[in-house]
Amino acid sequence: MRLDHPSPDDLGQDYLEIRDLTVDFDGFKAVSGVDLTLLQGRVHFLIGPNGAGKTTLIDAITGLVPATGVARYRNHNLLALKSHRIVRAGIGRTFQTATVFEELSVLQNLDIAGGVHRSPFALLRARRGTPDYVEAALGTIGLGDLRDRPAGVLAHGQKQWLEIGMLLVQDAKVMLLDEPVAGMSAEEREETGALLQRIGTERTIVVVEHDMDFVRSFADLVTVMHAGKVLTEGTVTEIQANARVQEVYLGRTADAAEAAEAAEADAVTHEGAGRD
Ligand SMILES: Nc1ncnc2c1ncn2[C@@H]1O[C@H](COP(=O)(O)OP(=O)(O)OP(=O)(O)O)[C@@H](O)[C@H]1O
Ligand SMILES: [Mg+2]
Repeated sequence: MRLDHPSPDDLGQDYLEIRDLTVDFDGFKAVSGVDLTLLQGRVHFLIGPNGAGKTTLIDAITGLVPATGVARYRNHNLLALKSHRIVRAGIGRTFQTATVFEELSVLQNLDIAGGVHRSPFALLRARRGTPDYVEAALGTIGLGDLRDRPAGVLAHGQKQWLEIGMLLVQDAKVMLLDEPVAGMSAEEREETGALLQRIGTERTIVVVEHDMDFVRSFADLVTVMHAGKVLTEGTVTEIQANARVQEVYLGRTADAAEAAEAAEADAVTHEGAGRD
């Protein structure tokens, strides 16, 4: 399959095709000529050191910063749309810090998020019971038992799941998740990974993440960004074997490994010397 010129036969119906995307902050290119094809049914990871441009790329796709180039989704160029239209087109994102309404219940948060597809009249009408799609989202994110609790009392991981639930009720077909597992416990990470795989089968999911263990466990495809550009992309194995990636992204880890190896070799030498 050629990703540079995908045909509809190659790809699921939903894919996001990014070409030459550039974000220029007064002469500083935070994102510079990025090409990326994000496929439906894959959990796609976006990694790279701090300041690589990952969040800015998501901001550009979701209409929060102006950008040049093309981000084609179905028949839209997202870069030409206002952010509320991008949401309506089926693109959802989460932020590095959770943005749930703390005083409102889990259910109310979901109901409000689901409102993007309801008419103003439907929003004014009193609701009886919980709509099916809200119920379904509650089940998927595993917060059914906490539906009436204020979102503010949720654990950190649960808030991120609620945010993902809010994208589900918005019927987001493309989900851009900015560091969803940062600060989560190992157990919460596992659950989040499983959740992403469950919802990823029929969606296009992009996850920004630093933790390589998490990437290794759940990524179908990885794109590495550095200094606003795509450095390389591939499977986790390919990425980890890439010398340039090790240099820019895993630099410190590689140095540490080298230092450890040198120390070990040193110890062996000394051991040998002792035995003589
Ligand atoms: N509004 C802005 N104006 C000017 N420069 C910005 C703006 N937003 C981000 N930048 C710069 O753009 C670069 C990319 O930032 P960005 O937040 O996209 O990186 P990131 O890859 O998400 O990093 P992190 O892993 O730390 O979240 C950084 O050098 C940042 O300082
Ligand atoms: Mg960021």
